[in-house]
Amino acid sequence: MASWRLVCVLAVWTSVLDLAQCCPETCSCLDKYTHQFADCAYKDLLLVPIGLPSNVITLSLSANKIKLLKAKSFINVTQVILLQVTSLWLAHNEIVTIERDTLALLIQLRNLDLSYNKIINFPWKDLANLTALQLLKMNNNEMINLPKDAFSTLKDLRSLRINNNKFTTIVQGTFSSLSSMSHLQIYNNPFTCSCSLEWLRDWITESKISVPEEDYIICKAPEHLQGALVTKMPKLNCKAPTVSITYQPNLDNTELYEDFMVVLNCETKGNPKPEVSWEVVNAGNQNFTFSLPSVVSAKSDSPINDKSTNGRFLVFQNGTIIIPRMSRKEDGNYSCSAVNDLGKADSTAKVVVAGEGEDGQDGEEVEGSVVTESIRGSTSKFEVCSEYSDRLPLGAEAVNISEDGNGKEPSR
Ligand SMILES: *[C@@H]1O[C@H](CO)[C@@H](O)[C@H](O)[C@H]1NC(C)=O
Ligand SMILES: *[C@@H]1O[C@H](CO)[C@@H](O)[C@H](O)[C@H]1NC(C)=O
Ligand SMILES: *[C@@H]1O[C@H](CO)[C@@H](O)[C@H](O)[C@H]1NC(C)=O
Ligand SMILES: *[C@@H]1O[C@H](CO)[C@@H](O)[C@H](O)[C@H]1NC(C)=O
Ligand SMILES: *[C@@H]1O[C@H](CO)[C@@H](O)[C@H](O)[C@H]1NC(C)=O
Ligand SMILES: *[C@@H]1O[C@H](CO)[C@@H](O)[C@H](O)[C@H]1NC(C)=O
Repeated sequence: MASWRLVCVLAVWTSVLDLAQCCPETCSCLDKYTHQFADCAYKDLLLVPIGLPSNVITLSLSANKIKLLKAKSFINVTQVILLQVTSLWLAHNEIVTIERDTLALLIQLRNLDLSYNKIINFPWKDLANLTALQLLKMNNNEMINLPKDAFSTLKDLRSLRINNNKFTTIVQGTFSSLSSMSHLQIYNNPFTCSCSLEWLRDWITESKISVPEEDYIICKAPEHLQGALVTKMPKLNCKAPTVSITYQPNLDNTELYEDFMVVLNCETKGNPKPEVSWEVVNAGNQNFTFSLPSVVSAKSDSPINDKSTNGRFLVFQNGTIIIPRMSRKEDGNYSCSAVNDLGKADSTAKVVVAGEGEDGQDGEEVEGSVVTESIRGSTSKFEVCSEYSDRLPLGAEAVNISEDGNGKEPSR
């Protein structure tokens, strides 16, 4: 371990006494036009050295053994921040952890090289403050998650290197704020070529940004696409999920009494096949969730829910839920939701035994009725398309409600 004896030079310039300019002993500091270049590369440093000149512009700490960047790393002992640093070279260290707010202080940074380290969790929020960044090298690390807004403030960023990490996906829109970008390296990441990555195939092909090493931008999963180029990924015909609930009996004009049997069918569409679940919220705020199996076994007519609930609800793998004997306890909202790579959709049937509360017959939520309603997404409005027929007897054919009218926008 090196000792941190400081070598300070008192600079006297004409009649002005300049600030004491120091340089950690292990570094060499060059003064060019009063701008300091501090070269601390190849020194086996374990931490950012203290005593760096406060007017350092370029700081090279490459090829050391730094494991941790602490929040105070770039603040000198008198609390003066290395505010003027425009280039920070930290490649080929052993950095695992970068504490929050460490980088955010360096608001003049134009060039940041963190490549060839061991970063898993990067403090992405810090990047938002580095609005002057032009070059960002984060390649050859072990990062897994890339938030969609990671680069959203970096209007001047020209070159971004995130290749050789462990990103399995990149969310559409991740690069859309990078209006100055001309060079993007994303190769050698273990991409999952599912619906949510399909945009990247087209984006790489159409973008004016240079995206080198296309031959190494490869699908790692799913198995049948393993090794395929992302740019050659087949069209997946992805469709956001839709949900519709049909039910019997038709209760729009029929009151629902205790001991009636009610059948609700949840029909879903979407590609890939959505994961479907029923959520029942009773009047007593009891909450039951039943997830349907994704693979339907050929001949199984038995309910999938266990004994604790199947006296009250029978949930079948085909999406049907049967309430064998209605009672006040079964009053509630029966919501079916479907989720796939492209988003989520849900639909709710409200099931209420007649004779509760006010006897209002004109409102939408008629007593003793089933009302289905779709939960709205923020942008799209869903219509509940209904076909009501008059007073069908119990067990009559299911009435088709809200068919396809409730597809949600994909959540991007
Ligand atoms: C910290 O910065 C101040 C102000 O520029 C400077 O006077 C002081 O010498 C620096 N301290 C060290 C230890 O580098
Ligand atoms: C980074 O920017 C945010 C939002 O502008 C600000 O609240 C925060 O204090 C900044 N962080 C630092 C360390 O300057
Ligand atoms: C059912 O949903 C409606 C709104 O959609 C809500 O007002 C009502 O409280 C819910 N009922 C229960 C039992 O949670
Ligand atoms: C019901 O439970 C699920 C999972 O525990 C939860 O996500 C959901 O918010 C709950 N719903 C209500 C209305 O309490
Ligand atoms: C789903 O399966 C159950 C049990 O086999 C059956 O009663 C019900 O009619 C089926 N629903 C549909 C929509 O086929
Ligand atoms: C619901 O409507 C769709 C489209 O019109 C139709 O294909 C489907 O068979 C209907 N389902 C029932 C249960 O009537």
